[in-house]
Amino acid sequence: MRFNNFLIVIYFISLTLAHILQAQNSHQDYVNAHNAIRAHVGVGSITWNYSVAAYAQNYADQRRGDCDLDHSMGPYGENLAEGYGNLNGVDAVKMWVSEKPNYDYASNSCVGDECLHYTQVVWRKSTQLGCGRVKCQNGWWFVICSHYPTGNIEGERPY
Ligand SMILES: *[C@@H]1O[C@H](CO)[C@@H](O)[C@H](O)[C@H]1NC(C)=O
Repeated sequence: MRFNNFLIVIYFISLTLAHILQAQNSHQDYVNAHNAIRAHVGVGSITWNYSVAAYAQNYADQRRGDCDLDHSMGPYGENLAEGYGNLNGVDAVKMWVSEKPNYDYASNSCVGDECLHYTQVVWRKSTQLGCGRVKCQNGWWFVICSHYPTGNIEGERPY
C-alpha cells in the first residue's frame, strides 16, 4: 500500500508541474513577456495573430525530428530557442531578451555578442506575434516566435 501511495504522489506532482508549465506557454504569456520588455524602451505593445501562430507551430512541428536551430526562411521575423528539460515559452523570451546588454543604440549594432533576437522582440513596427513550441524526439524543447511585420531591417533602428 505504501508503494501505491508513492506512485499517486508522483502522479500528482507531474500533474501540478504540467499545470504550472502550461501557464508559461499560453498566447498571453508570450505576449506579456514581449510587452514587458517593449515597455522598458517605450515601444508599443504586440498582439497575438493566429495565422502567424499557425505558421510558427507548423514550422516547430517540422523540427521535431532533428531539433535543429535552422531558420524557416519564411516571411516573418523569427526568433528560435531550444533547451533541455522544460524550456517553456517565457523562458525562451527571457533567453532572447538576455541579449539586451549587447545592443548599442548609438551605433545601432551588436557589441561583443549577439543582440538580434533582442532587437526583434522590441522592434516597434513588429506589432503582431505568433509562437509555437514542440518537444523534439531527442527530448529537447524547440520554441519559435514569428513577428509580423518582420523586424531587423538593415539600416533601421528597432525604436
Ligand atoms: C495576421 O497576420 C497576417 C500576416 O501573416 C496578416 O495578413 C493579417 O492581417 C493579420 N491579422 C490581423 C487580424 O491583423
